[in-house]
Amino acid sequence: MDNLRIILNKVNQLDPIPVVIHKVLELADDPEASLPDLVEVVERDPAITANLLKTVNSAYMGLPVKVDSVHQAVSMLGLQQVVEMVMSQNLSGNLNRAQKGYGLEKGALWRQSLAVAMVARTLAGQQDLMSLPAIYTAALLKDIGKVVLHEFVADKLSSIQKVVTDQAMSFVEAEKEVLGMDHMMLGGIIAKQWNFSSHMVYMIENHHLPNTAARNDPATSTLYLADMIAMMVDTGIGVDRLAYHVYQGVFSDFFPDKQQIKGLMITYKAYRREVHEFLEAA
Ligand SMILES: [Fe+2]
Repeated sequence: MDNLRIILNKVNQLDPIPVVIHKVLELADDPEASLPDLVEVVERDPAITANLLKTVNSAYMGLPVKVDSVHQAVSMLGLQQVVEMVMSQNLSGNLNRAQKGYGLEKGALWRQSLAVAMVARTLAGQQDLMSLPAIYTAALLKDIGKVVLHEFVADKLSSIQKVVTDQAMSFVEAEKEVLGMDHMMLGGIIAKQWNFSSHMVYMIENHHLPNTAARNDPATSTLYLADMIAMMVDTGIGVDRLAYHVYQGVFSDFFPDKQQIKGLMITYKAYRREVHEFLEAA
C-alpha cells in the first residue's frame, strides 16, 4: 500500500463528531433562524445539553444562579458563547491527543486551537465580514489534519526539516514534498468526510494561504492571521512554529493597523491563560 493510501486509511480511525453540531452551526449562521430553534436543537441531544450545563454551572464560570436549561444559558451568557461551548466540547476528542511528529504533548494542540479560535473570532468581529461561529469552528479544526499526519511527520521529520532549510519551503510545503500530503489537504479531506460546509472545508484546506485566491478571501485570511499571531508570541506550539510564509500583503490588505495586531498579540496571551485556567478547572 502506498504512503498516501495508508494516510487516508487512518482518517477512518478518528472519533466521529456528533451530527447535531452541524445543525447548531447552520442555525447560528442563519440570520433568519430564531433563538428557540437553536435552543431546541441543542436540547434534543441530552449528552450535549448535560455537558453544556455542567460547564455553565462550573465554579470557573462563577454564575450567581444555577442554570437549568439551554434557554437560560443563552440568556445569561449570550448566543455566541453558548455556541462556542457546544463547538469546543464536541470537537476536542481528536485534537486533545499528543501529536508526536509536531512536538506537541497531549492537550497542546487543543489549547493552542482554542486560543487561536478566540483570536480569530475577535479579528472577525473587528471586520464584521463573516459569521463568528463559523470562523471560531474553522480555527478549532484548522489543524485537524495534524492528528493523522503527525505519525508520518515523526518518521520523516529530519527530511522535512532539511527541505524547509535547504529549499526555503514552508513546513506545510515540505510535508507535501516529503509525504505526498500536507496537513491542510488532509484537514480538508477530514472536514469534507465530516460533512462540514464547502466554505469550512475551503478555510481548513487553505489556512496557510497556499494561493492568491485564499489570500483574497477575508475569512481564510483572518484564520491565517489568527494562526500567525499565535506563532509570533507562543513558543510552545510545536516544531513547525514560524516555518510558514509571512504574506505581508495579507496583513496590509486586511489588518493594516499595526497597533491592532500588537493588541491582539497581547490578547492571545490573555486567551492562553484563560484557556489554561478553564481546562484546569474542568
Ligand atoms: Fe496549520
